[in-house]
Amino acid sequence: MKLLNLNISFEQYAGIHELAEKDSALCKLSEQALSGSYSPYSKFRVGTAVRLASGETILGSNQENLAYPSGLCAERVALFSIGASYPNAVIESMAITAQTDNFEILKPITSCGGCLQVMAEFERKQFSPIEVIFYCLNGEILKVPSVQSLLPFSFVEDRLGAKA
Ligand code: THU
Repeated sequence: MKLLNLNISFEQYAGIHELAEKDSALCKLSEQALSGSYSPYSKFRVGTAVRLASGETILGSNQENLAYPSGLCAERVALFSIGASYPNAVIESMAITAQTDNFEILKPITSCGGCLQVMAEFERKQFSPIEVIFYCLNGEILKVPSVQSLLPFSFVEDRLGAKA
């Protein structure tokens, strides 16, 4: 038996003012994306802004449905929209934030497992890391250098082959 360890490094910021200009701009756009959220059931708005290498930014927000499992998280709304409209785009970075009228969010919310799996495949497909910024509107911000570091054991089986 061997015991193996994985380490992840990530950055923690006290607030948006500590971020580099590019990152704070992306966080502000993720906040703007909240207004597109359709979340009448959870009343929990999630917004994301995804920066492409081309300089374009794509927004996403959670979209719910009365048949609950039919809804989709903000991250996947944005990524699938990029896949559909910009299939060859390279993603540099994404910022994610959340807001609700029901309680105060004091810590950054982090992406669910289903979104991480989708983010991981976008990252693999483009052969370059996607930075992920979890932005708490009234608290700290976490910045992770890649999706791989968030989900080192994502599901991969190359022989199931997405051969572009
Ligand atoms: N949600 C996201 O948009 N992203 C996540 O990573 C986790 C959860 C949404 C789904 C649902 O509309 C609401 O947050 C409450 O779960």
